[in-house]
Amino acid sequence: MDLAALPTPLVLVDLPRLEENLRGMQAECDRHGVELRPHIKTHKMVEVARRQLALGAKGLTCAKLGEAEAMLPAGPRSLFLAHSLVDPGQAARVAALAEQLDDFRVAVTSEAHAVALARVAAAAGRTLAVMLAIDTGLGREGVRGAEAADRAAAAIARTGRLELRGCYTHEGHFYGVPPDQLAARAAELVDRLAAIRDRLDPRLALWPGCSVSARLVVAAGRGRVQAVRPGAYVFGDLSLTRAARVMADDAVALHVLATVVDKPEPGLALIDAGSKTFSSDKTPDGLSALATDGRDLAVARVNEEHGYLRGGAVDALEIGERILFTPAHVCTVVNLTDEVVVTAQGRPVARWSVEARGCTH
Ligand SMILES: Cc1ncc(COP(=O)(O)O)c(C=O)c1O
Repeated sequence: MDLAALPTPLVLVDLPRLEENLRGMQAECDRHGVELRPHIKTHKMVEVARRQLALGAKGLTCAKLGEAEAMLPAGPRSLFLAHSLVDPGQAARVAALAEQLDDFRVAVTSEAHAVALARVAAAAGRTLAVMLAIDTGLGREGVRGAEAADRAAAAIARTGRLELRGCYTHEGHFYGVPPDQLAARAAELVDRLAAIRDRLDPRLALWPGCSVSARLVVAAGRGRVQAVRPGAYVFGDLSLTRAARVMADDAVALHVLATVVDKPEPGLALIDAGSKTFSSDKTPDGLSALATDGRDLAVARVNEEHGYLRGGAVDALEIGERILFTPAHVCTVVNLTDEVVVTAQGRPVARWSVEARGCTH
């Protein structure tokens, strides 16, 4: 396979960097005796899940049933569905997953949701092991505070269909925490969660930890945190390098290769990758991607099949030139491609399918 002969835009995965990112997170978890249960929403690929499990990941985390089903060929024995499941019409899929795994857990995200989930469990003819979501500032799913946690735990017990095994949080708002405050905020997060968990039952597991906070939470956990569930750490993106600053630029393992297709006016070049490649997610300052080689080239705007390239290095570009970009948000980029080209030392070595791409139900 010759990279130059492949048409762009192309999503490239740097295998040595990917493996380094996987090893690094696993080693950090192992050092502190915390389980790694990575969220597969970032990579959606059996090849990556297989590597995570081979390195020692205790299980996988998925959002949707379809993602979980797509990851089964990787051979997980334990799987957590971290989303609010409510449709009894999907009970057969829930039962099939539970039968194929040693440990299948689903989220309970509020007192009201416990009642809805119990209907799914009843339709599946099973008791489901559940993890209670606690909101810690994102303001999305999860009980708001200790009293709400008590009420949700009581609602779970009342259903007779759900068995509480632990608590989790998704602290996605940590992406906006100033880097110099992250360690203190992670320590506070663990204290607050452990207090709620201890009040419910100290034997319950505690599973916080996204890619921004995982290493900090693992270190601050001191026997109180049993698992973390980072997702984006496998590849990285501008959110992790430029915004949160928890990852070095040269650790990023996924890039988009695009071609300059026109230079319609001074200061502007157009590339063949737009929102159908980069997605519509942007950095806080409105960029879809930056040139990986450090040149002043930013994808400042996207239409479906065009990227608007701006910056000091634009006028020196040639039409037909290929440029490697680091995307603003990697998870949505992967979800737009059927396969990635895997490289080592800049040369293509494999193509991997994105099996869970588009698995939104
Ligand atoms: C419930 C849940 N767990 C874990 C993650 C992983 O987060 P990150 O990709 O920031 O590591 C996410 C991300 O959206 C999530 O929603």
